[in-house]
Amino acid sequence: MTDCEGAMSPVELYEKLTAQGDQVRALKTAKAQKADIDAAVQLLLKLKVDYKQMTGQDYKAGCPPSENTVAPDNGPAADGADDEDTVDPWNVSTTNAKGVDYDKLIVRFGSSKVDKELVDRIEKVAGQQPHRFLRRGMFFSHRDMHQVLDAYEKNKSFYLYTGRGPSSESMHVGHLIPFIFTKWLQDVFDIPLVIQLTDDEKYLWKDLTLEDCNRFAVENAKDIIACGFDVNKTFIFSDLDYMGASPEFYRNVVKIQKHVTFNQVKGIFGFTDSDCIGKISFPAIQAAPSFSNSFPHIFGSRKDIQCLIPCAIDQDPYFRMTRDVAPRIGYPKPALLHSTFFPALQGAQTKMSASDANSSIFLTDTPKQIKNKINKHAFSGGKDTVEEHRKYGGNPDVDVSFMYLTFFLEDDEQVEKIRQDYASGALLTGELKKILIETLQPMIAQHQERRKQVTDETVKQFMTPRPLNFKF
Ligand code: TYM
Repeated sequence: MTDCEGAMSPVELYEKLTAQGDQVRALKTAKAQKADIDAAVQLLLKLKVDYKQMTGQDYKAGCPPSENTVAPDNGPAADGADDEDTVDPWNVSTTNAKGVDYDKLIVRFGSSKVDKELVDRIEKVAGQQPHRFLRRGMFFSHRDMHQVLDAYEKNKSFYLYTGRGPSSESMHVGHLIPFIFTKWLQDVFDIPLVIQLTDDEKYLWKDLTLEDCNRFAVENAKDIIACGFDVNKTFIFSDLDYMGASPEFYRNVVKIQKHVTFNQVKGIFGFTDSDCIGKISFPAIQAAPSFSNSFPHIFGSRKDIQCLIPCAIDQDPYFRMTRDVAPRIGYPKPALLHSTFFPALQGAQTKMSASDANSSIFLTDTPKQIKNKINKHAFSGGKDTVEEHRKYGGNPDVDVSFMYLTFFLEDDEQVEKIRQDYASGALLTGELKKILIETLQPMIAQHQERRKQVTDETVKQFMTPRPLNFKF
């Protein structure tokens, strides 16, 4: 495939092929010179081979590439994969009580596995024990992490970008996962971080006013700040506020918009003709922070500083699109680290989601609410009676309380002992839930305490465009 076609999306290649077919027909109708017709036919045949290579399908006039075809990235192209698992920015569902099949998702999304070699390498480069989310496979997939580390080893730094869609005043425990991990990355690599609050997105998707979304952004910023980010290295921004204040950011949005077709976003996000045009152009706004010159107060006019995005894998469609566009507008592709989902209380068939209050433990919940929710709703892998449980043991692989503990207990040996005791029947479901309650209650109380210390002045500091304490 030529360099030019390599940077194209399937839809663009399809459009180029169609145009080339028209060109051949026009030359023949005009009875052009044989050499010209032959050259045009040769190019047409070559484009057909490239198209087959890129999409796995034969080119057929009038049949654009399937809506699910996303430009293949690091890995193999989409293969139709597992019909049972739905993973996109709005829905996560599987019929498997153990949760989404993440290995299949890696193949389907064309990302790469975070394997032992990568975890060891991060340990070596960071000079620290890997975070428990890496040790235990919560951050299970990546794009271009080795490239980021290669550059970092040669003293070429990078920056972090993550975000939150402020749909309500309160965040849930699942939302903490990317932020806890991002803080760890900021600490060990000592790098700047930008956090996008997509209040515009929530206005477009939900039945909320602009004022509410903007207010939720500020409230959510307090929870994010309470995760411990360094004010000297972190810029948090609301789209509604920053977009209008930053010509550079908006220029990048427009560049991205020019290079993505409606067909492409329909294929990636499933938009339909009746979606408002705000939704259709929104992906460009989530893409823009991946490019360093969107933040001149931090990076000056540098457009070549590599970006690394930690997020759960539901956000990947945005960044598959971003990576597809990046080389065509002269920017480096952002790298990614993807996490698994923190499951809903009712079971790992869905993720913990703010739109289903019963599925979630909120960062505003009281100790009593936490206890009641876990005792009442947390799906158990235990047996029906104590006798049976003692005899046959429980199933930690489907037990939500156990899954939650794997996210939050630091000590690997303790987690392993709980797993074994539960599987053998030595530990009962009520006892397991008690361990979880006693882990989450103080953790959330401490979060609430730290959040209380976050003043309006502190929020303003984080959200003011300004230079950060870092030299590139
Ligand atoms: P939002 O608000 O849905 O989610 C914020 C972050 O939390 C992750 N997340 C979860 N992680 C683990 N388990 C869960 N149950 C769970 N639910 C949500 C999301 O993947 C995300 O990382 N459009 C975005 C906001 C955004 C963004 C970004 C996110 C803008 N730019 C860059 C990540 C990276 C949104 O609505 O996220």
